[in-house]
Parts: sequence; structure tokens; C-alpha cells
Amino acid sequence: MKIIRATDYYDMSRKAANIISAQVIMKPNCVLGLATGGTPVGTYKQLVEWYNKGDLDFSEVTTVNLDEYRGLPREHPESYWSFMHKNLFDLVNIRPEAIHLPDGTNMDSAAECAHYDEIIRQLGGVDLQLLGIGHDGHIGFNEPGAAFELGTHCVSLTEETIEANKRFFDGDVNQVPKQAYTMGIKTIMQARKVLMVANGTGKADIVKKAFFGPVTPEVPASILQMHPDFTLVLDAEAAARLD
Ligand code: GLP
Repeated sequence: MKIIRATDYYDMSRKAANIISAQVIMKPNCVLGLATGGTPVGTYKQLVEWYNKGDLDFSEVTTVNLDEYRGLPREHPESYWSFMHKNLFDLVNIRPEAIHLPDGTNMDSAAECAHYDEIIRQLGGVDLQLLGIGHDGHIGFNEPGAAFELGTHCVSLTEETIEANKRFFDGDVNQVPKQAYTMGIKTIMQARKVLMVANGTGKADIVKKAFFGPVTPEVPASILQMHPDFTLVLDAEAAARLD
């Protein structure tokens, strides 16, 4: 585990974007595993800026996203499909057919999850997986208690996650979908490199618990301590509880 300390959100975003750029430059046809949430928005913004300057080329890149709400149409403004198009895909030269997210509108969970795992397998796995972290230590939508050995699966979101995500749904918990399809911990651990971004005082406790506490399914992100190539980029506030 490598920890990179950034000063603030902007610095964290630039450092993470630098690591992703290096991956794309070293292997133009790489498979990037991408994440949603508020944290990576600045990272995507920086990648778009470098693309606009001509420093980055996504024409050969393939992406697989971590997760998607189950039952939400793609066109919904808060679907992860919409999020990714708004923040990255519509702004760079990635090929539409190279973009993959679980299909939240396929209500046959078993079929959708098996199909998504098969896509990742056929792509030869993920080169670099970007992650955020939930306040309870979830990664993707792998909530506390999630089995470490699962591939893509359907999950019921915890009350804490629904509460945290209601800000995207007019502040109304009733509008937040209650289930999602997510890559499992096994899928995430199989990525050749894992890069996590975390910022703000709200993440300081969970960062300490996940990466300086015991490895346990109760804190899903803690398993990343065992990943052979895991980089954590923290701003000063998220790193505040580390020695
Ligand atoms: C969601 C996403 C996660 C993300 C988490 C934290 O639940 N499924 O991938 O890491 O929220 O989000 P934020 O970065 O907004 O704190």
C-alpha cells in the first residue's frame, strides 16, 4: 500500500489524474475501471483538461464502471451512466462501444451480473481501478459484511448509503434506488492496479479504520491492504487521523 498525501481536493485530483494519465500513456489500449461519487469528479475534470490540451488520448481506452443503480433508466440524470457521460465520456475521445457499465434496467440480476463479469473477463481484466470510499468503508456498492469472494452481484443499499446519496435525489430518500449492481470485491482485487481517492474530514475516520485497522468484511475497503499494487491519494483532511 502506498499513501500519497495531497494538500487539498485540487491537489488530490491532480495527483490521481497523473497516475491515470501515466497508465493511458504507458498502455494506450488499457482497461480503466472507473468510479462515481463526488470524490472523483475533480480527477475527471483534470483528465478532460489534459485531453483538451492534446496531452491525453482515449481513442484506444476501454472502461468498465464499478456499479449502477438497479431499476434506474440510463437517461435518468442520476444514473451512473449519465454521471460518467457528463463528467468524462462526452468530453473526451473515448469510443462509445468501449464504455461499459452494468445495465440497471435489466431486472434479471443473475443474467446481468454474469454478463458483466463475462465482459470484464473477455477484456482481459482491469489494468487500473479507480475507487472512492463510502463513510462505512464501502467500495463500489460492496457494503459492510459483503463477502470478499464475490464477483458482480446485486446488492441492497444500507440506510447509511441511501442517506449519503439522497443529496443527488432532491434530498429525498424515497427517490434513491434501493438496490444496485456492483462489481464484487473479488473483481476489484483482480485489477492489476488499484487507485483510491479520499478527501475531506468526513473520510478521516474511515480511512484510518480501513487501512490501519484489521482486514475484515465489516470494512470492505480494508481488503485493499492485501492488494499488491494499491495507491491511496488523500487530501490533508482525510489524512488527519493518520500518524
Ligand atoms: C457511492 C458509490 C461509491 C463511492 C461512494 C462515496 O455509494 N457507489 O463508488 O465511492 O458513494 O462517494 P463520495 O465520493 O461522494 O463520498
